[in-house]
Amino acid sequence: MENFVFRNPTKILFGKGQIAKLASELPAQARVLMTYGGGSIKANGVYDQVKAALGSRTVVELGGIEPNPRYETLMKGVALVKEHRLDFLLAVGGGSVADGTKFIAAAVPFTDGDPWRILADNAEVKAAVPLACVLTLPATGSEMNTAAVISRGDQKLAFLSPHVFPVFSILDPETTFSLPPRQIANGVIDSFVHVMEQYMTYPAGAPLQDRFAESILQTLVEIGPRLLASPRDYDLHASFMWTATMALNGVISVGVPQDWATHIIGHELTALHGTDHARTLAVVLPSLLSVKRATKREKLLQWADRVWGIREGTPDQRIDAGIAKMRTFFEAMGAPTRLSAHGIPASVADVVAQRLAERKVTAIGERGDITPAVVREILAAAA
Ligand code: NZQ
Ligand code: ZN
Repeated sequence: MENFVFRNPTKILFGKGQIAKLASELPAQARVLMTYGGGSIKANGVYDQVKAALGSRTVVELGGIEPNPRYETLMKGVALVKEHRLDFLLAVGGGSVADGTKFIAAAVPFTDGDPWRILADNAEVKAAVPLACVLTLPATGSEMNTAAVISRGDQKLAFLSPHVFPVFSILDPETTFSLPPRQIANGVIDSFVHVMEQYMTYPAGAPLQDRFAESILQTLVEIGPRLLASPRDYDLHASFMWTATMALNGVISVGVPQDWATHIIGHELTALHGTDHARTLAVVLPSLLSVKRATKREKLLQWADRVWGIREGTPDQRIDAGIAKMRTFFEAMGAPTRLSAHGIPASVADVVAQRLAERKVTAIGERGDITPAVVREILAAAA
């Protein structure tokens, strides 16, 4: 096992009725920027619950944060914080709202040029405005992690900073009852792939991390189709919400190598074609596992056995059967696993390989051996 330091300071308030706790969790004198997306929180009653809990505090709103949040919209939030001397950010929505709010939090005190440099140049985030989150879409883990993914023009880039851990996040599963099936599927698939990025590498003498990861994958396989069939089952949605958080809050990645190539390639597909984040992952991961089967061999066999119960056949047959089971799972959730099904031309393989080479992203994956040429091969196999 590799050395590690683990700290996750985000307080989680989980369950029915917890949005009311905003009243006591937020400082009484807080001057709040409340951020949200395109209006789902107004349709499902979350907006009213949040406003009631905020009471008489000063609240300025920034709505209209897009899925795959955009720099220009977020810079409006930066301006509002400065203009109204706000000191606390409250994200109410899914991963895009949470991520966008993290960017605002980091951009406000940033003095080293255009805040886009945090993404484009990995400029250091030295401070951030405190933020909290009311989560309405289980998927990204953003409610309990240090990551944010922001889009500008045809670029979609990520940054990480411990300064943007939410101070607290409220996870009320009832807020997810209004999710359309497409977003449920996206959340299940995104969470599944988050675990795979932290697990499907090589053995690292970390059996507990392996079994945590496998249990999250098994839970998602078990509840995914049931969520689609039972959109108002509280316990099912509660499991979904906590499972998605646990998939990317840092617990399962301690002491082990990580991959993240599927995400890096997937972000390019979203940037170029607007494809939903999770749907890009459902296309890339099966192909990546097949192409990288030699270096991931031991973990692929362990996964095929423990997650999918595949114990018959040669090693390559078991690996193929595991990948096929995963493909079937994604497709059953309603996410096609081929580029062509999304209307993305096969030529994207060359385009993405070239874009990554231009950005000098030339050595990704747990061994740094996924070069632009390998990316091309992975996408060509996903056509
Ligand atoms: O904008 P509104 O009207 O709120 O509608 C949203 C949006 O259209 C809707 N929605 C959210 N909660 C709802 C709801 N509709 C009905 N009822 C509810 N309760 O769902 C749509 C998608 O929302 P979005 O926030 O974009 O989805 P998600 O949570 O999947 O976030 C995706 C973004 O997160 C990034 C992705 O790249 C993408 O930009 N990621 C962030 C990560 C992180 N911070 O750690 C990791 C992930 O790998 C991912 O990259
Ligand atoms: Zn993801």
